[in-house]
Amino acid sequence: MKLVFASHNKGKIQEVKDILGPLGIEVEPIPEDFPEIEENGTSFEENAKIKARAVCHATGLPAVADDSGLTVDALDGFPGIHSARWAGPDTTAQERNLLLLEKMLAVPDGQRGADFVCVAACVFPDGQEMTVRGQCRGTILHEEHGTGGFGYDPIFCVPEFGCTFGELEQEVKNAISHRARAFTALGSALRTKLEEGE
Ligand code: IMP
Repeated sequence: MKLVFASHNKGKIQEVKDILGPLGIEVEPIPEDFPEIEENGTSFEENAKIKARAVCHATGLPAVADDSGLTVDALDGFPGIHSARWAGPDTTAQERNLLLLEKMLAVPDGQRGADFVCVAACVFPDGQEMTVRGQCRGTILHEEHGTGGFGYDPIFCVPEFGCTFGELEQEVKNAISHRARAFTALGSALRTKLEEGE
């Protein structure tokens, strides 16, 4: 089986190849000049499906897309699907982190739980669709720790490791991340589908 993956991000493409390759699933990225897909859904699931449908429709091949973000308990799931852009299109990741920490100034320890969420969708040319979700539970610190990773990594503390995603080795983060969990679940779902001979 050959899949097109709706991303230009080399790290993500490699992660998907590493997980799906051993299952005999060939993964190729979308062409460089693929037009921007408008993510106007109201959930991670909808946005991932919107992207996967657009790529499947354009290429005629099974297509995979993912959508991810941070959901903070004390902020009713905010920033959620708006994680990349809620503070404006030109803000840096560090500015977003500081703005988020400001919103949480009054939130005491013990109520600072959050999840990184990743939903992967796969859409097939015959119209079949599947989505799987991967989550990673943690807490939001009061200031940034570590300089690794990207986005909200420096303020997201993983209790099992007692440090932030920004302080973890990239390989360790990649092994336990919401994205790894979603893609691993996708691999299992696709293997089941292949074994059923569909
Ligand atoms: P996308 O699904 O790649 O568009 O990611 C949406 C946004 O969620 C990113 O721009 C980040 O702000 C945030 N995000 C998703 N995954 C991670 C992660 O592993 N670490 C830090 N931030 C993340």
